Amino acid sequence: MRNNRNSLPERRWFLGLAIVGLVGAAVFIVVMILTSDSSLICPTEPIYGEMPKAQARVQEDYNPTTIQLKAILHYATSRIVPQQSLAEIKISFDVLKSMGRPCNFLVFGLGHDSLMWASLNPGGTTLFLEEDPKWVQTVLKDAPSLRAHTVRYRTRLRDADQLLLSYRSEPACGPEGAHLRDNVECELALHNLPDQVYETEWDLVMIDAPRGYFLDAPGRMAAVYSVAVMARGRKGSGVTHVFLHDVDRRVEKVYAEEFLCRKYLVRGVGRLWHFQIPPSNDSHTSQSFC
Ligand SMILES: C[S@@+](CC[C@H](N)C(=O)[O-])C[C@H]1O[C@@H](n2cnc3c(N)ncnc32)[C@H](O)[C@@H]1O
Repeated sequence: MRNNRNSLPERRWFLGLAIVGLVGAAVFIVVMILTSDSSLICPTEPIYGEMPKAQARVQEDYNPTTIQLKAILHYATSRIVPQQSLAEIKISFDVLKSMGRPCNFLVFGLGHDSLMWASLNPGGTTLFLEEDPKWVQTVLKDAPSLRAHTVRYRTRLRDADQLLLSYRSEPACGPEGAHLRDNVECELALHNLPDQVYETEWDLVMIDAPRGYFLDAPGRMAAVYSVAVMARGRKGSGVTHVFLHDVDRRVEKVYAEEFLCRKYLVRGVGRLWHFQIPPSNDSHTSQSFC
């Protein structure tokens, strides 16, 4: 009995200390969570790679967009996979991540990868340019939220070599003061695109179309030339990231070297080349794009 009476105050002390300890620990954990950056809560790689603390905090509130959820559903249930390999896709994926903000992303060609590109750029502008109006309808039937325009190309793959020779003697094609809108004289210029294409400063451009694997196909000559003109004409700060697919083909390679330039080639994986093209500050008359 005496033992029991003696141990009661001790137990109360012990209980009191335990409660104080638990409350203290809870307060400590809450304070740590509220004041830490995301690396404490999520010790694995943050969503957008390295970024300032303020930006990382915004990412804690990151919610998937509708298009991202649609993309998950689509790719989880589709047997058709995009044509680019994972290693190739990862090049533009890494650039989109590193920008840390919604981007202006222009994509030549609609396909099984379109929903993926749009969902990798949440909140940004992802615009597709497609040569085949029927294919536009087919793709938009399944993914009506994609923004796509039909483009009429004036070129044929069979004329690629001749176009490369003749553009040099056509002043309307020259790098100095080159322009696209209404430029009917230069056959390589995409002269009748929607205004939005000319009026937007594109951060990234993916050239994976038009078709260039048979002689009567449009080939990618005009796309490569026009993207070089857009990138050189950029007014804002920063470079234009240009990704060109199918560089195992001669025409893609030759046109890339003529207009996108070896010196701006920063990476190559599989059949994809990645260029970073700065705005042109040519104060003198330039004879070539590179
Ligand atoms: C090399 S594909 C690339 C398309 C897209 N980047 C992809 O990976 O699916 C270029 C062009 O082929 C055409 N194309 C691609 N898939 C097609 C299909 N299933 N049916 C009809 N045309 C298709 C489209 O005109 C498209 O712009």
